[in-house]
Amino acid sequence: MRLKRTHNNVELRITDVNKEVVLSGWVHRRRDHGGVIFIDLRDRWGLTQVVFNPEKHAETHAAAEQIRPEWVISIRGTVDPRAEGMTNPKLQTGEIEINCFDIEILSKSLPVPFPLDEYGDVGEEIRLKYRFLDLRREELQKNLLFRSEVAATTRNFLLEKQFVEIETPFLMKSTPEGARDFLVPARRTFGTFYALPQSPQLYKQILMISGFDRYFQITKCFRDEDLRRDRQPEFTQIDLEMSFVEENDVLEMIEGLVIEIFKKNMGMDVGPKLPRITYAEAMDRFGVDKPDTRFGLEMVNLNETLATCGFQVFRNVIEKGGLIKSINVKGGASMSRSQIDGLIDFSRNQGAGGMAWMKMTANGLESNIVKFFDPEHQQALIDTMGAEPGDLLIFVADRPTTVNKALGAIRLKLGEDLGLIDQSRFDVLFVTEFPLFEKDEETGEINSMHHAFTSPVEEDMPLLNTDPLKVRSKAYDLVINGTEIVSGSIRIHDSDLQMTMLEKLGISTEDAEAKFGFLLKAMQYGAPPHGGAAFGFDRFIMLLRGAASIRDVIAFPKTNQGVSLMDETPSEVSREQLITLGLQIRKT
Ligand code: AMO
Repeated sequence: MRLKRTHNNVELRITDVNKEVVLSGWVHRRRDHGGVIFIDLRDRWGLTQVVFNPEKHAETHAAAEQIRPEWVISIRGTVDPRAEGMTNPKLQTGEIEINCFDIEILSKSLPVPFPLDEYGDVGEEIRLKYRFLDLRREELQKNLLFRSEVAATTRNFLLEKQFVEIETPFLMKSTPEGARDFLVPARRTFGTFYALPQSPQLYKQILMISGFDRYFQITKCFRDEDLRRDRQPEFTQIDLEMSFVEENDVLEMIEGLVIEIFKKNMGMDVGPKLPRITYAEAMDRFGVDKPDTRFGLEMVNLNETLATCGFQVFRNVIEKGGLIKSINVKGGASMSRSQIDGLIDFSRNQGAGGMAWMKMTANGLESNIVKFFDPEHQQALIDTMGAEPGDLLIFVADRPTTVNKALGAIRLKLGEDLGLIDQSRFDVLFVTEFPLFEKDEETGEINSMHHAFTSPVEEDMPLLNTDPLKVRSKAYDLVINGTEIVSGSIRIHDSDLQMTMLEKLGISTEDAEAKFGFLLKAMQYGAPPHGGAAFGFDRFIMLLRGAASIRDVIAFPKTNQGVSLMDETPSEVSREQLITLGLQIRKT
């Protein structure tokens, strides 16, 4: 390198005029204006315009004629003010340009497969294949810089609060957290496998037993599960755990960190307190445990109002222990029949038997089912729903889980379709008191709603044997705009209670010993009360940046098939490698 850079490409201003400078970077754009060549030189900080004038510096101009987009160059020149009318207010360096008299070509580039400043029409596949080019785009650069800044805020905040950053193993035993493990064959102990951690859950609990009191880590987790827009097989958590705490202590710590990140990295004030609602209330009002509260359309439970109504379909549902819920779509009476039919189809796709509706007019309620409701029930409906002329009432009656799922989905769809969601808003809230267990509708089995180490709420303990599904837990989530960002709980620190819990989950003593006997053993040597949580870091960044996909905030992401297109991972391995590991691939 002959020329040594003096400034980056966003630094120079009108006050630097006449300075001699050296800039380095990539050729972003090159324009040939009848002899004079203009180049926008780019680095991760920004763009500076460089001018090559054939009359002033013929040799340098001749060299500049050769260069093409994405070549890497250094240039020496003097800072000039731009001519009247040629300034660019969109660029921080838009008032100056560099009059170049020396150039060094550091590296050439093949023609790029897609333009880096107008990528709109380019498919994601080609962008992922050429990830090294895609990452040069401003949007992705900004996302990753932002990600790094949020990580820094997090570290500073937690270190300040006396957390210790500790790394936990990537090669470990299976954790019982629901998803499938990625396995790594262990060569030295033939026939055995490591698993990549689904989270550091067990280790962080052991760190509390070891007396570190407050731990955190920004670390990778690995889960072999179906991928979606906001899921990756390897993703990052801000993982933390605290000793001698109750639920409120952990929530306040998360709250402090979230408010700090919004303040420092988004310039927004979401504090001083974040709202908290219970799981039961979230399900009741929104039908989901991660409500998007940026818009209304809240659900109303009509079981009481309609218990004695004349509509047999509704009455049957109530008698069978089902649920009737309704949403009042303000001004929705103007929806056409086909729009309403579309919603009915949508509700069926969500598993509901159907969806009923009524329009509120100046003459009262109108629809094909209104005739089944006597005037008293019609008035009760109008009052309970706050119906006014022009409104549309939508009803789903079914098993409670079906109603919440279908009407919850309809609510979100209407929120989007009717443009009710203010996209610039961040609604951050805690959901608390999750049930300890949930029932798998297909197998009838009882599973942990969060994980097997979560503590039940003390006053619900007697229900563990009689009505386990009613037991509330000390588990909580932080939800932003309808997405689960943080999840955590107060843990069980008593080994007997932990064993009871595993029994309830149908995990045999042998299985428990084999899988996490080490945690159970550690618990018998003085475990402090403890609890914690983990942020889905990628998801959080995606949301804060308003990115369309989690892939846009991860440097080297995988596709929904779990493939990295740039380096073609995963790939086959040689026969020799398999033999060393004692493995054989069976092609079925
Ligand atoms: P949980 O499994 O709920 O809890 O995970 C915590 C958070 O991690 C994010 N997340 C994901 N992000 C991207 N891709 C994925 N495949 C993925 N899976 C989960 C979510 C989620 O809220 N050990 C417990 C935490 C604790 O109890 O302290 C745990 O891992 O945002």
